[in-house]
Amino acid sequence: MGARSTGSTFTMRQIVIVRHGPPEVLEPRETPDPVPGDGQIRIAVRAAGVNFADVLARLGLYPDAPKPPVTVGYEVSGLVDAVGRGVTTHRTGDRVVALTRFGGYATRVVAPAVLAFPIPDSLDAVVAAAIPVNYLTALIALYRMANITAADTVLIHGAGGGVGIAATQLARRRGATILGTASSSKHDAIRAQGVDHAIDYRKADVTTEVRRLTNGRGADVVLDPIGGQSFADSYRLLAPLGRLVMYGVSSIATG
Ligand SMILES: NC(=O)c1ccc[n+]([C@@H]2O[C@H](COP(=O)([O-])OP(=O)(O)OC[C@H]3O[C@@H](n4cnc5c(N)ncnc54)[C@H](OP(=O)(O)O)[C@@H]3O)[C@@H](O)[C@H]2O)c1
Repeated sequence: MGARSTGSTFTMRQIVIVRHGPPEVLEPRETPDPVPGDGQIRIAVRAAGVNFADVLARLGLYPDAPKPPVTVGYEVSGLVDAVGRGVTTHRTGDRVVALTRFGGYATRVVAPAVLAFPIPDSLDAVVAAAIPVNYLTALIALYRMANITAADTVLIHGAGGGVGIAATQLARRRGATILGTASSSKHDAIRAQGVDHAIDYRKADVTTEVRRLTNGRGADVVLDPIGGQSFADSYRLLAPLGRLVMYGVSSIATG
């Protein structure tokens, strides 16, 4: 990539949502490199996380996303290739993972230095890019909001997804009993992550199953990113002093 016949220098490539719709609305485009401002760094992107919210944004179902044309992408890994004024925590060449809140589907992106963290050489860059959104979401829900303990039973909806896998690992670290919903094809995989009781939400009634597995008591903690009727059902499934964390509306993205 380099200078173009227009006279401008285009060096950065982005994946742009040009209008709302199916994957075909994603287009590669070239644009001038972003310049890091005060307190910001620029990252030469090695990998970008693809999250449920990005898909919702492409479909036009995510109010948080800017209107098209827009480049989404909440998280990246890569090398710092420029630092803005006042940045003392990062240097050119540092290997980092960063929260970008849009703009991550690109070969270069600017992010606040405070939202970029060093990663060890042993951590693969592609794996690293999938960590921030999934694990921060799960960690805030389980450790900060729900304050989960070994005495708790937690119901994790969507246990086979990115956040669900992170939540399962974190709940397991606290020693909680884990009930997880997923399609049956994912049950072996979620059990391997630490789910004690896998529930096929497509075939079984989740409420009935959770009541059966908890001897009618319900769950101390429920993580629900499904939305709609599921929020109401999850609320009713709470044991005394239970905590329900709602953090998504997957059910609107049918098909
Ligand atoms: N608030 C936040 O900060 C935040 C951050 C991250 C994610 N989220 C939300 O969390 C949810 C999961 O995100 P993710 O990145 O983990 O997604 P993901 O990796 O794509 O996984 C989604 C999982 O949800 C299940 N699922 C999908 N559509 C469903 C539906 N209509 N009804 C029931 N289950 C459904 C699927 O399970 P099966 O394949 O087993 O059926 C899949 O394993 C999304 O709603 C996302 O927007 C919120």
